[in-house]
Amino acid sequence: GKARHLRWEISNMFWSPDCEEKVVIGINGQFPGPTIRARAGDTVHVQLRNALHTEGVVIHWHGIRQIGTPWADGTAAISQCAINPEETFTYRFVVDKPGTYFYHGHYGMQRAAGLYGSLVVDVAEGEEEPFQYDGELNLLLSDWYHESIHTQMVALSSRPFRWIGEPQSLLINGRGQFNCSLAAAHMQGATNQCAATAANTQCAPVVLPVQPNKTYRLRVASTTSLASLNLAIGNHKLTVVEADGNYVDPFVVDDIDLYSGDSYSVLLTTDQDTSSNYWLSVGVRGRLPKTAPALAVLNYRPNRASDLPALAPPVTPAWDDYGHSKAFTYRIRARAGTPPPPPTAARRIELLNTQNRMDGRIRWSINNVSMVLPATPYLGSLKMGLKSTLAAARPAETFSREYDVTLPPPNPNTTVGDNVYVLAHNTTVDVLLQNANALSRNVSEVHPWHLHGHDFWVLGYGDGAYRGDAADEARLNLRDPPLRNTAVIFPYGWTMLRFVADNPGVWAFHCHIEPHLHMGMGVIFAEAVDLVAKVPNEAVSCGATATALMAGGHL
Ligand code: C2O
Ligand code: CU
Repeated sequence: GKARHLRWEISNMFWSPDCEEKVVIGINGQFPGPTIRARAGDTVHVQLRNALHTEGVVIHWHGIRQIGTPWADGTAAISQCAINPEETFTYRFVVDKPGTYFYHGHYGMQRAAGLYGSLVVDVAEGEEEPFQYDGELNLLLSDWYHESIHTQMVALSSRPFRWIGEPQSLLINGRGQFNCSLAAAHMQGATNQCAATAANTQCAPVVLPVQPNKTYRLRVASTTSLASLNLAIGNHKLTVVEADGNYVDPFVVDDIDLYSGDSYSVLLTTDQDTSSNYWLSVGVRGRLPKTAPALAVLNYRPNRASDLPALAPPVTPAWDDYGHSKAFTYRIRARAGTPPPPPTAARRIELLNTQNRMDGRIRWSINNVSMVLPATPYLGSLKMGLKSTLAAARPAETFSREYDVTLPPPNPNTTVGDNVYVLAHNTTVDVLLQNANALSRNVSEVHPWHLHGHDFWVLGYGDGAYRGDAADEARLNLRDPPLRNTAVIFPYGWTMLRFVADNPGVWAFHCHIEPHLHMGMGVIFAEAVDLVAKVPNEAVSCGATATALMAGGHL
């Protein structure tokens, strides 16, 4: 593969993602950040300079496994020290697998401040995708809050707890329209604000130009802070062909769900009436929506981009129609040729997801422990054997079969911990994610869990508590489960994953909802750390590892 050299500068800047001017974190003056395009087997070098005035920064390459380079995973306090203002850090990693990915900040809630962009990996030179298309369109979906992330982080950790609420806007490629219907903006005699919207280039609607009777590959990824999404295009069917950088058995749908952390490729054939444009619409799922759908225009050439589509925008399924969501998610199967999972696992880690209280705050916890990140990144402290920086006791890996997932937690109090699960090299691990009732009665939320450093097979899903009985076992698919890096747990349900611990490093596994992670919803897998090659000093020159290095220690 080739080496791709990029130089990035991260800074705060004024921007109007939804036509209201705010401060975003941009890269090289752009929001969203530049799209990285590479071929499988290439090495990407990103020389990143932090030009934020007073905060550190890191960037995580979501979906890239970082095989052999765990220090380049870009997770503050896990794989590296935050890069201080005016410092430069170089990420070097191989993009080994074609697919649709993205990157984002992974320090505090910087992702929600707009620190993200697309990462697209094409097949290696001379290879071909297992499906055909004439053109490509790329959509990175996000949600947007008018409050700064600093205010949001204070709210989420204050006493009493303050919830940040729903986002003000949904963004498509960083563009949305707050308080102004896009349809209205397109119409003759639109109100001044809407007319201004259409004219403002930072929040002007996204236009997807297409030729009639062609097939397009639409790459879609969601980097939302909170919202689960549904995407549809008026009158067009979508054929799902890829999920999280893995090919899936193609299937046809009217709309797709995307949880934060998901990416898909869908094929779209422009076989409809060519005299009109069509709306692409993105709406909220899984939470009572208070945020207007985002719209983009599928522009059938030679119509003008500004021609109003004849059909109304497609309507998102009801937010709480979980039957619809499950029907979509359960249909995703691996494409023939995908490696199957090992037939058995050596270990099963059960993770009960609950909402708890701690010192008057609200936290999310796993087996009653809410994750807090240490001052010294795990990768350095575990590699150097600095035991004093971590809790001595390992977290629990089962929960009581008596636990009633349909009720609020009987003991709502929780503790905090570093939640490190130590995995031996090459073991096959099953992870049972068990959802439950939150603190309020009759509330259970959707949580998309994302694993760093690996893809996992999604063996199955079920409603209620996992009992491991014949009926539950029958729900596990060992034949053609999809490989993914993000999988959802539905309200009151369970999801079973399997992966092989074949990538030495320290890897986060967490709910991809930014406020949930901030409230402790995650665990750490420390995998064969003794087999990690030498960690570059610049990745761990902080905290107890810096002290140990100064005293002559080695990584
Ligand atoms: Cu895309 Cu740990 O996240
Ligand atoms: Cu969550």
